[in-house]
Amino acid sequence: MVLEEKAIDRKLELYDSIVVLDFGSQYSELIARRVRELNVYSELIPFRTKASDIKKIAPKGIILSGGPNSVYDNGAPECDPEIFNLGIPVFGVCYGMQLMAKILGGKVIQANKHEYGKAILEVNPKDKLFLDLESKFTSWMSHGDSVTELPMGFSVSAKTSNTPTAAISNNDKKLYGVQFHPEVIHTMNGQEILRNFVINICCAKPAWTMTKFIEESISQIRARVGEKKILLALSGGVDSSALAFLLHRAIGENLTCMFIDQGFMRKSEPERLITTFQNEFRIKVHYINARERFISGLKGVIDPEEKRKIIGREFIRVFEEESRKIGPFDYLAQGTLYPDVIESADSNIDPKTGERVAVKIKSHHNVGGLPKDLQFKLVEPFRKLFKDEVRRVGRELAVPKRIIERHPFPGPGLAIRIIGEVTVERLETLREADSIIRDEINKAGLYNKVWQVFGVLLTVQSVGVMGDKRTYSNPIVLRAVTSEDGMTADWAKLPYEVLEKISTRLVNEVVGINRVVYDITSKPPSTIEWE
Ligand code: XMP
Repeated sequence: MVLEEKAIDRKLELYDSIVVLDFGSQYSELIARRVRELNVYSELIPFRTKASDIKKIAPKGIILSGGPNSVYDNGAPECDPEIFNLGIPVFGVCYGMQLMAKILGGKVIQANKHEYGKAILEVNPKDKLFLDLESKFTSWMSHGDSVTELPMGFSVSAKTSNTPTAAISNNDKKLYGVQFHPEVIHTMNGQEILRNFVINICCAKPAWTMTKFIEESISQIRARVGEKKILLALSGGVDSSALAFLLHRAIGENLTCMFIDQGFMRKSEPERLITTFQNEFRIKVHYINARERFISGLKGVIDPEEKRKIIGREFIRVFEEESRKIGPFDYLAQGTLYPDVIESADSNIDPKTGERVAVKIKSHHNVGGLPKDLQFKLVEPFRKLFKDEVRRVGRELAVPKRIIERHPFPGPGLAIRIIGEVTVERLETLREADSIIRDEINKAGLYNKVWQVFGVLLTVQSVGVMGDKRTYSNPIVLRAVTSEDGMTADWAKLPYEVLEKISTRLVNEVVGINRVVYDITSKPPSTIEWE
């Protein structure tokens, strides 16, 4: 496959931007998201990026992220010292501040006390970074090392009871550092501090809006694709749906959407998807009923990774066969998002290359796994967007609310929520249970308060009693989690009355279920899905 996204990347250069040098903190991506919430484009770049290359990008500001290392560790990641001479404002966060201090001649030592969690910050409200903020507020700390001697030209602009140098500034050179994490919600005024840096100090114009993004993407797509045809594999989720709307607006009938029904969707979803797209929005969908193929491929399979692999492989086969039948197509559209591109999901930083490397926990099955030799060029208009930005794009394009607000749903669908063998009967049982769970969560007004809520069907059996008769059937596990991004999650503290209603209805209405248990583990150590 040929990647031809340069045109769209070039477009992004039209916006003022802030680059985040990524030193491997779990919060690096969050910094870029927070900057974008200020309507200024921001992206992560490897910490090794040369000052001369940064100059070519011409960002309005540079943020040095946090990271797990100590600046004096062997092989600790270091940026090009020349970045401090570019005349571009720099803002170091945690490790980023310590590194800046060390490179510019200050001293960093391991502090007597680790500071982790909330700490009261006393700031100089006249300092440009803290301008117009109150003089005392809560900050979120997570560090062992501290700056003990300032580099020349710097002064202390904030302290906590444990850390005398909680923030440092060199206003002349526009170099700033904070020991705490302004990007984390526990830091009060965190977004204001970022605003002071991005808007006031860097003078970045807040021009990054989804309305503009849509307008420009459409003209870019038109210019690139012309009268040629694009194929899009639709899943019914937020990303592929928003993409379908965007592409349809850009190229109209030259877009073909293909929906492969694996048989693992929720109750009525395939029908609803077709109705929404074809009848409501006049976007043609090529529907392929492949249920039979998928279910027979899974016969006798109980291993989760094996299931995922079989489903992924079958998906590619069906996709190839069908696209050949209805093709040819010049372009393949994919809903690849920015976090997929930067591998932020479950990733570590490679100290040699400075790139992020994914740590595999589960084989995710998405269209992204298509073989390299398919003769398509890729169209990936969302590859610079975060999920919440895609939602905003969707809203502006009038994608129905029920799709925009839909909880994440895994590619292999209900098949990985059935422990043990997937059969037609077991799918029906889980589909019915899932529908009841969602119904009760909706009625209680809780759908948008949780990240995901669903049922998992187990193979174990337990004894129950129903109408004086002994039962010996399966339990349903109720899984409900809250999360910001799916990377970590807490089990949701659903009200007892809602739990009770769900439990009563599941046992009364779903044949083959005689017990309901509630999953009260967080991620980590568990994952959200059971397989
Ligand atoms: P886990 O179970 O790893 O899931 O905690 C994290 C998030 O990813 C979703 N998920 C998937 N999404 N294809 C997807 O598109 C997949 O194969 C897949 N597996 C898990 C999961 O629902 C949760 O939101």
